[in-house]
Amino acid sequence: MKYVTLNTGTTMPIMGFGVFQVTDLAECKRVVLDAIDAGYRLFDTAAVYGNETAVGEAIAEAIAAGKVTREELFITSKLWVQDMNESDAVAGVERSLKNLGLEYLDLYLLHQALGDYFGAWRTLEKYYETGHLKAIGVSNFYPNMLTNFCETVKVIPAVNQIELHPFFTQDDALETMKYYGVIPEAWAPLGGGRYNPLDNELLQGIAEKYGKTVGQVVLRWNLQRDVVVIPKTTRKERMVENFDVWDFELSQEDMDTISSLDMGYGGTRTKHFDPEYVRMIHNVKVHE
Ligand SMILES: NC(=O)c1ccc[n+]([C@@H]2O[C@H](COP(=O)([O-])OP(=O)(O)OC[C@H]3O[C@@H](n4cnc5c(N)ncnc54)[C@H](OP(=O)(O)O)[C@@H]3O)[C@@H](O)[C@H]2O)c1
Repeated sequence: MKYVTLNTGTTMPIMGFGVFQVTDLAECKRVVLDAIDAGYRLFDTAAVYGNETAVGEAIAEAIAAGKVTREELFITSKLWVQDMNESDAVAGVERSLKNLGLEYLDLYLLHQALGDYFGAWRTLEKYYETGHLKAIGVSNFYPNMLTNFCETVKVIPAVNQIELHPFFTQDDALETMKYYGVIPEAWAPLGGGRYNPLDNELLQGIAEKYGKTVGQVVLRWNLQRDVVVIPKTTRKERMVENFDVWDFELSQEDMDTISSLDMGYGGTRTKHFDPEYVRMIHNVKVHE
């Protein structure tokens, strides 16, 4: 496993595991336990995924069984829009900690740049100071927003988790993150089910050349750009496949060829400019 160093001085595995849309709690627990067995140590959940408790149960079971220690794990969750202000963020953070059954989280993100996210950030900064959140970051912050944010806040975000795959390379976002020392983390690194890299002939040709699968090539492409990846799968054999990306290196020419698939837009970056979508997100509730 390779690690990236955050602006906090702590390290984060460059490859982890996401549990978005694993809504059946028993399945989610099984999936996290399988992923720990497959070697994953970074887990990415969120208040809005509704599965923090299942992730927490899997972690407790794995630790009790002696499979991992808490220190070896890197657990991320996210504050939902409903709690995106200074006072509600307190309850939001406390709820995530309680649901996960953990004394601290390794990383906690503002899920969206919606609501009073500056106020919410001040709360996260306090939890960062007390050590209950070892690192704090943001998600879905576009280059202009991230720039404004970094120029305003006291603690610079450690991470910005955004949509990143060959069909949406977001080079401008990576440039801004580099400027502020923010680590990029890719959501939907395999296309998130909306884009299907597996059917792409160009990617199939490259995969064949290296004797790897398209999924492995696509993950490797982000890893070689120093982007943290958190692929999701419920299938054990795919967990093993996605993790097996350390024994080959894409040439610069192939990296560039893969990047040429960029379409310049993704699943969310356009939607956030749609008032209907923003209203819909504000109406998604994670608690009473
Ligand atoms: N911050 C945000 O706003 C945000 C948004 C979206 C996602 N995320 C995070 O990012 C994580 C990853 O994103 P994602 O779940 O949207 O998409 P993803 O990881 O790019 O893709 C998941 C899809 O790919 C399939 N898959 C996984 N491995 C495969 C393989 N080796 N071969 C073929 N198909 C494979 C999965 O199906 P099976 O499960 O059937 O294998 C699933 O349909 C999420 O779980 C979540 O933690 C964050």
